[in-house]
Amino acid sequence: MSFVTQPERPDDHNPITNIHRQAFGRDNEGRLVHRLRRERQLLLSLVTTHDNAPVAHIAFSPVTVSGSQRSAALATGAALGPVGVLPKYQGQGLGLQIIEAALESEAISQTPWQVLVGEPALYGRFGFQAASKYGLKCEFQVPPEYFLLRVTPGAATPSFEQGETLHYHNAFHSV
Ligand SMILES: CC(C)(COP(=O)(O)OP(=O)(O)OC[C@H]1O[C@@H](n2cnc3c(N)ncnc32)[C@H](O)[C@@H]1OP(=O)(O)O)[C@@H](O)C(=O)NCCC(=O)NCCS
Repeated sequence: MSFVTQPERPDDHNPITNIHRQAFGRDNEGRLVHRLRRERQLLLSLVTTHDNAPVAHIAFSPVTVSGSQRSAALATGAALGPVGVLPKYQGQGLGLQIIEAALESEAISQTPWQVLVGEPALYGRFGFQAASKYGLKCEFQVPPEYFLLRVTPGAATPSFEQGETLHYHNAFHSV
């Protein structure tokens, strides 16, 4: 059994849609990836294959902070999502492995910080903490403990003005 993680290739587009359809039990996340790709908003799109068949996928897209007075470089981060593993392959460490590979990739380690909406128990091990700790709010109505931010190791700790709001790409508004 050989697992390989690498950037998506054109042949992976349909399998990626299928991974998210099966992982989430709906089409929204696959459509989101498709739209981010079409609008050239995929900062990173990684696929894990098992014997050449895609079984896990993760995407990152750029996000911005409204009302930010700081430099454009610090006002722009990366959003993790979606991440999905085919149900048959879940619980074998592939999710953790693809998240780690993505965070260590050149594309993402060059961003100052990353955000996501997800389980603190899952993402805390990668250094994600409540974004409210840094003064950042999410544009979506989500419980604050699920809106998480990770500072890239070695990067400056962002300190947002209280109440500054994180904005996702428009494609996320239709999820
Ligand atoms: C979430 C998901 C990507 C994790 O991938 P996976 O390959 O099943 O997970 P792994 O085998 O790498 O294990 C990840 C670890 O996180 C834990 N974990 C997995 N899903 C979790 C969840 N939703 N909440 C909290 N912890 C979770 C596991 O128990 C495991 O912990 P352990 O190492 O202490 O045993 C995968 O289960 C999936 O595709 N789920 C459906 C889609 C989804 O919910 N995506 C994430 C949205 S934020």
